[in-house]
Amino acid sequence: ATPIKVGLAGFGNVGSGTYSILKRNHSLITQRAGAPITVKRVAVRNVDRVRKLVDEDVAVSSDWHDLVTDPEINVVVEAIGGIEPARSLILAAIDAGKHVVTANKALLAEHGNEIFKAAEEKGVNVALEAAVAGSIPIVKALREGLAANRVSSIAGIINGTCNFILSTMRDTGRSFDDVLAEAQRLGYAEADPTFDIEGIDSAHKLVLLSSIAFGVPVNMDKVHIEGISRLEAKDIKFAEELGYRIKLLGITKYTDYGIELRVHPALVPMRRLLANVEGAMNAVVVKGDAAESSLYYGKGAGSEPTGSAVVADLIDIARTADANVSERPKMPTTQHNPGAKDF
Ligand code: HSE
Repeated sequence: ATPIKVGLAGFGNVGSGTYSILKRNHSLITQRAGAPITVKRVAVRNVDRVRKLVDEDVAVSSDWHDLVTDPEINVVVEAIGGIEPARSLILAAIDAGKHVVTANKALLAEHGNEIFKAAEEKGVNVALEAAVAGSIPIVKALREGLAANRVSSIAGIINGTCNFILSTMRDTGRSFDDVLAEAQRLGYAEADPTFDIEGIDSAHKLVLLSSIAFGVPVNMDKVHIEGISRLEAKDIKFAEELGYRIKLLGITKYTDYGIELRVHPALVPMRRLLANVEGAMNAVVVKGDAAESSLYYGKGAGSEPTGSAVVADLIDIARTADANVSERPKMPTTQHNPGAKDF
């Protein structure tokens, strides 16, 4: 195993969650990774704030370039979010031969092809477990646990904020805006919550899942996207009376005509498992030809649940960084019909 010196960019929800887990579970993580994983340097906008939150031996920079130029750092964790400077940082880190772990679904959904290509050329990993459904190991499930399958569809609740809004409105009769404000306070919502409530965040995650499962490039333009902002309390109530729950679903299917990708509110019969996913929880159902249906359920947002996935990727890199690149799971995998038309 390879000792990992992390350069951590960003110390918001995801960055701070990652840091606390690495610190609290340090010896256990070292044991499992086969080598220590330590944060060497943090790059953040507000140095004074973060200086007080991290140990003395962790350097704190205001400039992300410091993570790239530090020769001891072998993995950069990008927890800034948004497109820039996250994209420049990741590309520079790859170019410097460093592995990257990111929770940035928006960036990967928009610029993933460029980033994965650069990583492949350099022989480094871009690990993204944290970018989809927080703590749920869905990327590992698709790449490893279900590697034997031809996947035919993936459907799930992949935005915690929307699910929290829909379930809380139903249970308490509170207004949309009021519940959204609470989701923001709890650290579930995106910096711009429009991404959550208009279905864009779900679409970001869906294109990543689709790309991994079907071995096609990421393509946001192909997703039909409809959010929950036009739903009213009475829609939820009427659905309930008819035996349904309204859930914002992300669905991707492999069909004879190409790959279908859609995000929209759906009426889910109450007896179905997905109808009973409450609060900020996420759940993903994958159908494969051999495994048939499997369901993955867990916290899809929040500081430590997302940090849990970041640290899992760091452990993975510690275990495999020495291995030949071609031996490591990469993105996108191509287990489907090579040459089949996508989209
Ligand atoms: N805003 C996202 C959500 C965070 O609510 O699910 C996790 O990606």
